[in-house]
Amino acid sequence: MSRSEGNAKGRSVTLHMVSSLDGFIAKKDRNVSWLDCTGSVYEAGVSISEEEVVAFVKAIDCYVLGSRTYEHALELGWPYGDTPVVVVTGREWPPASARKTVEFYSGDLTTLVDAKLAPRYRNIWLVGGAMLCQRFLELGLVDEIRLTIAPVLLGEGLRLFGGSPTEERWKLKNVVAYKNGFVELSYSACGV
Ligand SMILES: NC(=O)c1ccc[n+]([C@@H]2O[C@H](COP(=O)([O-])OP(=O)(O)OC[C@H]3O[C@@H](n4cnc5c(N)ncnc54)[C@H](OP(=O)(O)O)[C@@H]3O)[C@@H](O)[C@H]2O)c1
Repeated sequence: MSRSEGNAKGRSVTLHMVSSLDGFIAKKDRNVSWLDCTGSVYEAGVSISEEEVVAFVKAIDCYVLGSRTYEHALELGWPYGDTPVVVVTGREWPPASARKTVEFYSGDLTTLVDAKLAPRYRNIWLVGGAMLCQRFLELGLVDEIRLTIAPVLLGEGLRLFGGSPTEERWKLKNVVAYKNGFVELSYSACGV
């Protein structure tokens, strides 16, 4: 099924990541302190209340993540609450290694989206890491990109966008600048 057919059926896949100004989503040592909002205040920016965050997160039906992001989330503290999570992996995982809301998936990613997720969920969030997001993009499975830019240069680390050889245009849908200096850019796929 193509991206537009998928949309016609009502599901939407949003790729969401936080990137440094220089395009990295993780440091080599995996330290995440660069994601903390320290000191920087952009007066003209907006801030969102706890209630708005809760309402926003509640609207997400399902998260999809690669196994390395899953392992890192387990280490850092589970950020996905009770929302269903699908972890993409080629490995066998002992049942005890999963939380109740987690399912493991191995196999074709188009089948995952069209046959497994779309019939059950409308608002699907792909939240990392770089490897899985790049694969979703290559396969045309992403309807929206939401990139939050953190006000920091990291110099090195894991790049969100790899060396995809194809040029692809995306349509800017929204820009939100936050008081803490983070900027969220939302794009939809052209032709959607
Ligand atoms: N800044 C942010 O917003 C953000 C968000 C998320 C993650 N991160 C960071 O990114 C890092 C992880 O990213 P990553 O790119 O290294 O790894 P990743 O994409 O999270 O996970 C890679 C793993 O996913 C599985 N996988 C990916 N594509 C697959 C496919 N087509 N078929 C089957 N399995 C597939 C494989 O698992 P197996 O090896 O199990 O087979 C692969 O090793 C972590 O440090 C994390 O904290 C940052």
